[in-house]
Amino acid sequence: MKFNRLPFLASSLFLYVTAFAQQTNIVVNTADAITTINKNIYGHFAEHLGHCIYGGFYVGDTSKTIPNTDGVRNDIIDALKKLKIPNLRWPGGCFADTYHWKDGVGPQSKRPTIVNRWWGGVTEDNSFGTHNFLNMCELLGAEPYLTGNVGSGSPQEMADWVQYVNFDGKSPMSDWRKQNGREQPWKVKFWGIGNEAWGCGGNMRPEYYADEFRKFATFMTDWGNTGGLVRIASGASDADYNWTETLMKNIPVDMLGGLGVHHYSIIDWNKKSSATEFTEDQYFATMKSALQMDELVTKHAAIMDKYDPKKKVAMVVDEWGGWYDVEPGTNPGFLYQQNTMRDAMIAGVTLNIFNNHADRVRMANLAQCINVLQAVILTDKEKMILTPTYHVMEMYNVHQDAKLLPLKILSSDYVLGSEKLPAVSASASKDAAGKTHISLVNIDTKNTQTITVSLEGGQYASVTGRILTSAKLQNYNSFEEPNKITPAAFNGASLKANTLTVKLPPFSVVVLELK
Ligand code: AHR
Repeated sequence: MKFNRLPFLASSLFLYVTAFAQQTNIVVNTADAITTINKNIYGHFAEHLGHCIYGGFYVGDTSKTIPNTDGVRNDIIDALKKLKIPNLRWPGGCFADTYHWKDGVGPQSKRPTIVNRWWGGVTEDNSFGTHNFLNMCELLGAEPYLTGNVGSGSPQEMADWVQYVNFDGKSPMSDWRKQNGREQPWKVKFWGIGNEAWGCGGNMRPEYYADEFRKFATFMTDWGNTGGLVRIASGASDADYNWTETLMKNIPVDMLGGLGVHHYSIIDWNKKSSATEFTEDQYFATMKSALQMDELVTKHAAIMDKYDPKKKVAMVVDEWGGWYDVEPGTNPGFLYQQNTMRDAMIAGVTLNIFNNHADRVRMANLAQCINVLQAVILTDKEKMILTPTYHVMEMYNVHQDAKLLPLKILSSDYVLGSEKLPAVSASASKDAAGKTHISLVNIDTKNTQTITVSLEGGQYASVTGRILTSAKLQNYNSFEEPNKITPAAFNGASLKANTLTVKLPPFSVVVLELK
């Protein structure tokens, strides 16, 4: 009885203190490390779109100027390995429901072309196909996440793809794979069954798509060497809760490995902002949209809980990120945009949201990896730069597969005109070596936040940290100035007994390590 009352008393005191102190207070429960933050939350997305694959990852093995391994840029492989990229989604996106995988295997000179009807109407030569992608994933140490074609494909085509990449024995598909140079199966575990079925994937109603999912899933044989195929349903757009409800109601939980959700941080589909020359109003609106992720994940999860109380089905946020106007002079269909401190803010708060919902969100994919939307890498011929978003993902990779430490936060406000948002976002975890990491974001453009973190149940002797910030919110790394924004040592945190005091500068991301 006494013990049950303690949390209540502690949180009442917490609310009382914070209401008057006008600062951010966080209570981290360091003893309650139960839920694992699945490393796949830190996944990426590579679509045949603009210069993500061609001219991004893939320069072709005849490139004389750009060092590569089987056509994939070595500098990109190194950068993504450093990021600890856990998984990579391919080939789309909208492209997936037009893609016929059989056109992308076998001798390159014999492959038919494909017109990328969603993205710029360009003709592709199919030189980057299944072998290229799966071998690249091996180089990266990333799990492949293949999205199959439901919209214009067939269950047979999808079943053949699974057999081609996964079957160990003798079959028409595995024989063909061997003939094309790959003896061992790749053992691909993650399979998306279509993409955005409510839109570019076929404009389906959820009832119809639920049946399509069941049909396709049935013929995707698990060949017994993946630890269990994870069949992922094309999920809701933003707050389309009816989509989630209908799918959960109509697809048996045992058939459904994961259920997607897509949400972009966007001001208005018809009136986006420049990626670099944006006002504070536009920044505020973007952050409001980014922070909406918490409500979306909470509400979609509540629906999933009704049908799947044991949380067997993973929520897979397989597209997220900031979406702005393309850079002036670039192909509007290529979605090429720069990446500023605003993007670092989006990445920081979104990853905190995913960490804090790790019981249900077990996979996510930033859109997209290279040269498209909120990219972590931008390329220009032989040059390559890392964006602020890259640095946030690298700083946060300490949370991968660590145990979530639940926290309570009472944040001060970031106020603009008559509107306000919580200024501070946070998440915390304990890794296998016993180190605790706390990631903090201050989205306020002007005010340093003073944060008091009570580490309940913990015993720590030291704190160190890294910070990502810049002189201007609109700053970015360019090909001329590639290291304008990089993480630096952070000295603004002090530890006294079990209380941490942090001075968090405006628009900054900090990751602290406590031992
Ligand atoms: O990421 C760009 C596009 O956004 C994807 O192809 C599609 O799934 C979404 O609408």
